Amino acid sequence: MAALRGVAGVQVVAVVDVDIGRAHSFTAAHGIPQAYQDVDEMLGSGLDAVTVCTPHSAHEAGVLAAARHRTHVLCEKPVALTVAQAQRMIAATAAAGVRFGVLFQRRFWPAAIRIRRAIEDGRLGTPICGGVVARFNRDADYYAEPWRGRAATEGGGVLMTQAIHHVDLLQWFMGPVRRVTGRCATLVHKGLIEVEDTAAAVVEFASGGIATIQAGTTFRPGLGAQVWVSDAQGRTASVMEFPEGVGFTDISTVPGQEVSQTGRVRAGAPDLPLAEIHDQLVPYHAQQIEDFVGAIRHDREPEVTGLDAVKSLEIIEAIYASSGTGAAVEFTHAVPPRERVRRRL
Ligand SMILES: NC(=O)c1ccc[n+]([C@@H]2O[C@H](COP(=O)([O-])OP(=O)(O)OC[C@H]3O[C@@H](n4cnc5c(N)ncnc54)[C@H](O)[C@@H]3O)[C@@H](O)[C@H]2O)c1
Repeated sequence: MAALRGVAGVQVVAVVDVDIGRAHSFTAAHGIPQAYQDVDEMLGSGLDAVTVCTPHSAHEAGVLAAARHRTHVLCEKPVALTVAQAQRMIAATAAAGVRFGVLFQRRFWPAAIRIRRAIEDGRLGTPICGGVVARFNRDADYYAEPWRGRAATEGGGVLMTQAIHHVDLLQWFMGPVRRVTGRCATLVHKGLIEVEDTAAAVVEFASGGIATIQAGTTFRPGLGAQVWVSDAQGRTASVMEFPEGVGFTDISTVPGQEVSQTGRVRAGAPDLPLAEIHDQLVPYHAQQIEDFVGAIRHDREPEVTGLDAVKSLEIIEAIYASSGTGAAVEFTHAVPPRERVRRRL
């Protein structure tokens, strides 16, 4: 709500929740006129846009309902539980002629934009290597919410819910993927969750670049996350998230952007409570909503479309598949996904 309120011209007029009690408390707490239990009833009331903030397993139904009612839709990450679901969501929103955005607000961090712009304008060459290190702290209280930690409703663990933001940044910097090899395990939260609390992967890119991903929810306290890339000249740039929710440039040897701030990260600093982690991200969440509203108003694509969002999900789905079989997963996109969908329509 704080992010939605920060955007000029946005009025939140209705909320739907399968638990009508929750919908009523939410509307009462935030002065929202209408609460609904039925999504079609709410969308039938005539809205310009809707944001889907349900557990992951309900994202597809929410986005398909928005498409049915020709309502622009901004969906929370991960776009869906599977790539197949995400492709259906992309096709349905394209066929309905509505904008479909997916929330990846860390892409709006200045530190992340700086890396992407340096790659675009050539100050940082095509990355030949890179990585994600994501060390988070999640405990039994967090997993007490019944949908969390369950394969059917969360679809995965640290990769699907936390590190997907960082996998998204990595692929935003390094480009299309060629091959993924991964290993996942539940090493600490066994008995509490069905999904992985620990993951490691090697990602090979179409450019020839290679990156590693290491992620866990087993760190006490959490140590945040880092996404870094380096080019053939050895120029290196990295966005650090520490504490969780706060992103900054910790290393950059890109000409004109030199920074080294690794001393800012101190082991032993306490984790921010979850609500404060979200508070830190509100300005960037608001920027993404503002971008989505601009996309509707000016009839353009939002910064992060469904097609953009499916890329991190494809990598994560491949890590799960590789972990299950022990084999690498080859990516065989003859044409980029954007083109495939355009041709199908
Ligand atoms: N972008 C971010 O940084 C960020 C941060 C937090 C959560 N999220 C995402 O937001 C989503 C929700 O997470 P949360 O922590 O707020 O969950 P939550 O459990 O706190 O809230 C989910 C709400 O959805 C309701 N719900 C469940 N199924 C529904 C359905 N079919 N239709 C309508 N309502 C339904 C529940 O009753 C509940 O009130 C997740 O996908 C999560 O990944 C993103």
